[in-house]
Amino acid sequence: MATTITTGTAEVRDITKMERIGAHSHIRGLGLDDRLEPRGNSQGMVGQAKARKAAGMILKLVQEGRIAGRAMLFAGPPSTGKTAIALGMAQTLGSDVPFTVITASEVFSLSMSKTEALTQAFRRSIGVRIREETEIIEGEVVEMQIDRSLTGATKTGKLTIKTTDMETIYDLGTKMIDALAKEKVTAGDVISIDKTSGKVSKLGRSFARSRDYDAMGADTKFVQCPEGEIQKRKEVVHTVSLHEIDVINSRTQGFLALFAGDTGEIKPELRNQINSKVAEWREEGKAEIIPGVLFIDEVHMLDIECFSFLNRALENELAPLVIMASNRGMARIRGTKFRSPHGLPVDLLDRVLIVSTQPYQAEEIEQIIKIRCEEEDVTLSEAALNVLSTMATQTTLRYALNLISTAQTLARKRKSAQVDVEDLRRTYSYFMDEKRSVEWIKQQQGFLVFEEDLQAEPDADVVMDQS
Ligand SMILES: Nc1ncnc2c1ncn2[C@@H]1O[C@H](COP(=O)(O)OP(=O)(O)O)[C@@H](O)[C@H]1O
Ligand SMILES: [Mg+2]
Repeated sequence: MATTITTGTAEVRDITKMERIGAHSHIRGLGLDDRLEPRGNSQGMVGQAKARKAAGMILKLVQEGRIAGRAMLFAGPPSTGKTAIALGMAQTLGSDVPFTVITASEVFSLSMSKTEALTQAFRRSIGVRIREETEIIEGEVVEMQIDRSLTGATKTGKLTIKTTDMETIYDLGTKMIDALAKEKVTAGDVISIDKTSGKVSKLGRSFARSRDYDAMGADTKFVQCPEGEIQKRKEVVHTVSLHEIDVINSRTQGFLALFAGDTGEIKPELRNQINSKVAEWREEGKAEIIPGVLFIDEVHMLDIECFSFLNRALENELAPLVIMASNRGMARIRGTKFRSPHGLPVDLLDRVLIVSTQPYQAEEIEQIIKIRCEEEDVTLSEAALNVLSTMATQTTLRYALNLISTAQTLARKRKSAQVDVEDLRRTYSYFMDEKRSVEWIKQQQGFLVFEEDLQAEPDADVVMDQS
């Protein structure tokens, strides 16, 4: 029996991807010029010029489709912009190119095996651009007539649509009536209905109706009444990820699972079927593969099994570009006794392009703080800006950025529109940075409940140095 593989419609995008990342909301790109040279302060990006340029070069290769199945690693101390640059890359790619972000430890917390979680992440990062012919109904609404049943639960109706050449009456069911109501379609609108998905789009108001302005808003767009046939065939192009195709076609799940975000495990046989179907579509010229990007943050948290999976998956014909980030220097590879640079096994390291990020200069820190203040709509006094920059150099940039909003709460409480040194001093005393927290824990020895091994093991991981 030949299975049919559907790809859903463009509407069924994977919504679990649309995560808001507050701490990086000011990042709008890599801030490079046409020659890929980093601008001093652009698109929310400051400094870290070499890493940004390297990221830009890699993106270029991705866009030319030349770098699937490769991997790169951002290595550097905490708070040096590794995650920020990766997200800047995501913004630069078109909306058509999938970009998936995971944090390595997520892989262990999902209700599925590690390798299944990674497989899903890989398949989310491969786009399939599909060209399909659909049948649409397009014309000007002449009349819409709706009859409700006594209870109002079911509706039936008739829709009269015309073009300059013809006029047709269609019977409407409840679903279609709701779709028309949602778009607020009235007589005189020029609309288009996708026959397969039932999606209604309003193209504008017909010129012929430009006089009855009771149904118009300020932004009403006028269009000509369409010519020719009411039913037409039209080519549409939409991009879905392999993972979306998997989920839509997995019988136990159905595409509602995409909205729940909880997709469970997908059978390997189904994936094989989908792969060969996609290969068939490619041969027929119906589909194109768009290798995207998979970003794995804090990659040293993966264990040896995950790393061997990565190694194998990168060999696959359908592999995305994998970008990793780590703040570890020499670290133990999880699941083994061995230590290795960045906590990655050497055979994986071997195929990775490594880009390092450096601690920021004082002026760069000041500029980043200013950008964040603008983003969060906070005014800092000149003195407060100096104090916060100093704090950032002594603790971490991330800690300092976190203080902005808490300090503002304090400033508001004393009815000031501006955050001053005093507000910072108070938040600094409320919230500890890592160094102070470690100090405090040491002082509390014997009073807190400790996990067995908190005392520094002789071969504990080394986080890269800040200074
Ligand atoms: N070059 C930069 N330009 C603008 N903001 C940055 C830059 N580097 C880091 N940031 C911001 O500083 C904070 C810490 O950076 P982050 O990317 O999380 O560091 P890392 O991932 O290296 O630990 C984030 O809020 C980030 O958006
Ligand atoms: Mg990070």
